[in-house]
Amino acid sequence: MKALILGITGMDGSYLAEQLLKKGYEVHGLVRRSATWNRSNIDHISEIYNNLHYGDMTDFVSIVSVLKKVQPDEIYNLAAQSHVQVSWEIPAYTAQTTGFGVLNLLEAVRILGLKTKIYQASTSEMFSGDPKEAPQNELTPFNPQSPYGLAKLYAHEICGIYRKAFGMFICCGILFNHEGERRGENFITRKITKGVANIVKGKQDKIELGNLAAKRDWGYAPEFTEAMWLMLQQDKPDDYVIATGETHSVKEFAEQAFKEVNLDWKKYVRVKEKYIRPLEVNLLQGDATKAKKIGWEPKTKFKELVKLMVKHDLK
Ligand code: NAP
Ligand code: GDD
Repeated sequence: MKALILGITGMDGSYLAEQLLKKGYEVHGLVRRSATWNRSNIDHISEIYNNLHYGDMTDFVSIVSVLKKVQPDEIYNLAAQSHVQVSWEIPAYTAQTTGFGVLNLLEAVRILGLKTKIYQASTSEMFSGDPKEAPQNELTPFNPQSPYGLAKLYAHEICGIYRKAFGMFICCGILFNHEGERRGENFITRKITKGVANIVKGKQDKIELGNLAAKRDWGYAPEFTEAMWLMLQQDKPDDYVIATGETHSVKEFAEQAFKEVNLDWKKYVRVKEKYIRPLEVNLLQGDATKAKKIGWEPKTKFKELVKLMVKHDLK
């Protein structure tokens, strides 16, 4: 089996590459040309050195060219401008990459006549986050609150349309927040765990954060990337919520992370206006009952997740 991972240099892409290699796949990846090295998450995976191809989701020609060369059995589209707050600063680029880029991919597969199965990285940011709607499942109405959420909703809907119209095998995973040792350092969990470790090491004296009241359903990324693969192994393509079912606030995350090193979070956390978003998704808590039916269940829960991330950053 041959898989192509778009977004292989990101957190999920790197975990998924390792898992697919273990399953015996030939793994290929799309990488962006960058003046500085953007492959630190995959540098240790020597099996893919010769299977990395330059391209960009906004560049249709590059997508066609890579697909024609690789002819993958499965495509995992994890490529996106994935930061919600940044999407307020570059909304048009986010729409082009995270939204329209997916159309480029679907059209390339269709025009080349490939029978490739496609996984699309949809997100809980497509929901409004209204506490009255929690826990959110596949039937909860979408109502995004950011340029990122809206771009992902376009991608999600166009995948559904191509699946219905052209019979393409496309699965969308509506993944709730998932974190890990390779999480980007400007997402809240890693910002906190890295900050805690830096405080212990004397490299930082405080952590500046935005909305402490927002609640998220945080899971462990390598378990979530396993779910992506599982979806593509089913007889029929479908969409699935992937989540732990628990919800915790940003404040709770900070409190727990400082507890791991016996410090009081209140002494080190400051609220800074610039990190507060123009709109917020207030509460996410996923109901992954449907995914359970295909054999997926979360294992790592909140406290264990915080612990493993703090431990990693303390090294
Ligand atoms: P991430 O670490 O930010 O990785 C994003 C990947 O996309 C990187 O490899 C990045 O390449 C690539 N990329 C960005 N713009 C691109 C473009 N124009 N063309 C080609 N590649 C591009 O994200 P992640 O946390 O692993 O998440 C993976 C996917 O799942 C994303 O689509 C994200 O939106 C979605 N998602 C994530 C979560 C979560 O909690 N992690 C939840 C739901 C959905 P560079 O390294 O060159 O920047
Ligand atoms: N990043 C960040 N930085 N977030 C902060 C901060 C801060 O200083 N202070 C408070 N927050 C709050 C945000 O307002 C949000 O409510 C919550 O912490 C989580 O923020 P992020 O970690 O940036 O993640 P996200 O929930 O916005 O988006 C992530 O999860 C989505 C799935 O729900 C990303 O991985 C998206 O790509 C993904 O789709």
